Amino acid sequence: MSIEIPPGLTELLQGYTVEVLRQRPHDLVDFAVHYFTRLQEKRLQDGAGAAAAQRPHGRGVNFDGEPMQTESNGDEEEDDDEEDDDSDFEPPITNRYIRRVSVCAEAFNPDEDEEDTEPRVVHPKTDEQRCRLQEACKDILLFKNLDQEQLSQVLDAMFERKVEPQEHVIDQGDDGDNFYVIERGLYDIFVSRDGQSRCVGRYDNHGSFGELALMYNTPRAATIVATTDGALWGLDRVTFRRIILKNNAKKRKMFELFIESVPILKSLEPSERMKIVDVIGEKIYKDGDRIIAQGDMADCFYIVESGEVKIMMKSKTKTGQESNQEVEITRCKIGQYFGELALVTNKPRAASAYAVDDVKCLVMDVQAFERLLGPCMDIMKRNITHYEEQLVALFGSSMDLRDPGK
Ligand code: CMP
Ligand code: CMP
Repeated sequence: MSIEIPPGLTELLQGYTVEVLRQRPHDLVDFAVHYFTRLQEKRLQDGAGAAAAQRPHGRGVNFDGEPMQTESNGDEEEDDDEEDDDSDFEPPITNRYIRRVSVCAEAFNPDEDEEDTEPRVVHPKTDEQRCRLQEACKDILLFKNLDQEQLSQVLDAMFERKVEPQEHVIDQGDDGDNFYVIERGLYDIFVSRDGQSRCVGRYDNHGSFGELALMYNTPRAATIVATTDGALWGLDRVTFRRIILKNNAKKRKMFELFIESVPILKSLEPSERMKIVDVIGEKIYKDGDRIIAQGDMADCFYIVESGEVKIMMKSKTKTGQESNQEVEITRCKIGQYFGELALVTNKPRAASAYAVDDVKCLVMDVQAFERLLGPCMDIMKRNITHYEEQLVALFGSSMDLRDPGK
């Protein structure tokens, strides 16, 4: 007796199996329910009926409910090898509902330690340019885990770009060409959704942008407009993917398990936690180093990876004046976070943070914090009440840590 395998079954199960291997869920049944529900929702959303599951080369959906096959605008031929590459990298949350337009993917598998034969991109620089470039790149989180050779290849490949006020450096929906590091200038971030464009943030003389389209092969997720004269350093897509993506594969191996164990990140989907690994950088501190200074403007969020961090606050005199004497408020241990308060309230840092012995922290910039940690925001906001109670217990008077507007 011959049993006929229904068309689409193999691809359907393959899609599920691939997701299981990527996400490694604890509970296969829960995961299956979630996966197939997403698949069904996606089909209803598309109105595409059974086509997605029954395409001869269809691979179901990834965990975000997106088709795992790269979509094209119909103008381009697609290459199977390119898709193999893409399936390793899921699109960012912000792009969940944006249809992919034209996508240009280079064949590249970051897990393979292949001999790379591509010619290196080198933009010659004067000593003065190189100094400015090194200064601009010294705190770029995506460069933090590169080894010396990788970093020098990245710096060699970078090129200078001057911009003028109102210049659009990136337009949402475009294909990604370069990643940018800011040397100077102010840049507004606009995100369009449902036909409405909203300014969601600003880069102020440092930071970087333009990594998402290159990492995940998606259209640009935001528009970046210079509001002053500015200077940027660009890194071409090919070099970015060759070096940064390879390094991200290494980072996933290093930090995945730790990130899964961090309590504040438990409410995120596994795929959302993976995106955190892609954007974090690791910073190392020695005993006594000041990680955060009370009163400074904030641009980063921290999770203690090893060691301990002491939170200190300047005490108040009886008249309510701030004294220079610092009082220890609490300690953050492995897996705990700090530095979120100023990002949530838009106020300066409420306290200082110091390393106790050798400390390693995972660090995320404010843009990634806002983009990726939305689901954890309620817990963080609730914790502010706990901070305020701590301060009453220590100083005897109440302190409003919240922005009145929030
Ligand atoms: P990319 O999508 O390549 O191009 C636009 C860039 O804006 C994006 O990468 C991020 O680097 C940056 N960006 C900053 N804030 C946001 C946000 N809220 N949503 C999407 N992109 C953002
Ligand atoms: P932030 O204000 O950004 O920088 C200092 C950090 O110290 C703060 O975020 C909190 O993460 C942390 N912290 C821990 N306990 C307290 C507290 N009682 N009051 C204020 N900040 C605290």
